[in-house]
Amino acid sequence: MRAELARPVGDQRVADVVIDADTIVARVRELGREIAESYPDGELMVLGLLKGSFIFLGDLVRNIPRALQVDFLVAASYGAGTSSSGDVRLVYDPETRLEGKHILLVEDIVDSGRTLNRLVTLLRRRNPRSLEICALLHKRIAQGLELEARFVGFDAPPLFLVGYGLDHAENYRHLPYIASLRES
Ligand code: IMP
Ligand code: MG
Repeated sequence: MRAELARPVGDQRVADVVIDADTIVARVRELGREIAESYPDGELMVLGLLKGSFIFLGDLVRNIPRALQVDFLVAASYGAGTSSSGDVRLVYDPETRLEGKHILLVEDIVDSGRTLNRLVTLLRRRNPRSLEICALLHKRIAQGLELEARFVGFDAPPLFLVGYGLDHAENYRHLPYIASLRES
């Protein structure tokens, strides 16, 4: 019902719903419990990587029954276009101290893993008490990950996905479900 309401009217590019809204809600609830149980003590900082994680992060933290703090990271690659060789630069850096805290980095999707690899290296230099990754989706194609995601919502099919935060050219982030996109 909710999915139908949000479906872009007349949009021919959104193909199939791959993960429906109810399935996401149920899985996020489970993840929240799992995360709370994994951190019996200490300060927990949930760090959302923008923009892709914004909806997931909002739903996730409301399902983590323990004290926590929320902040965000905005990363940009040095160099132009689709080049993957550049280093990562933080355009927004958490204002709060990370040292001594459990850091849970929240990402929308792990694809090649390059983004996460660079961020993990950078965040480790801040001396957190622990560093873990929570990804809504994981394509399971990444090679040589610095740190494997400890919490994963769903294994993703090898398709380009949109919705629930994920975009194509900034569109479709608001869809309450995850859908595949038709080519062209
Ligand atoms: P990676 O560095 O190759 O792992 O890419 C991760 C980033 O690429 C994600 O945070 C997304 O922003 C984007 N991305 C990768 N796959 C998809 C997809 O299927 N749909 C939308 N964005 C994607
Ligand atoms: Mg992203």
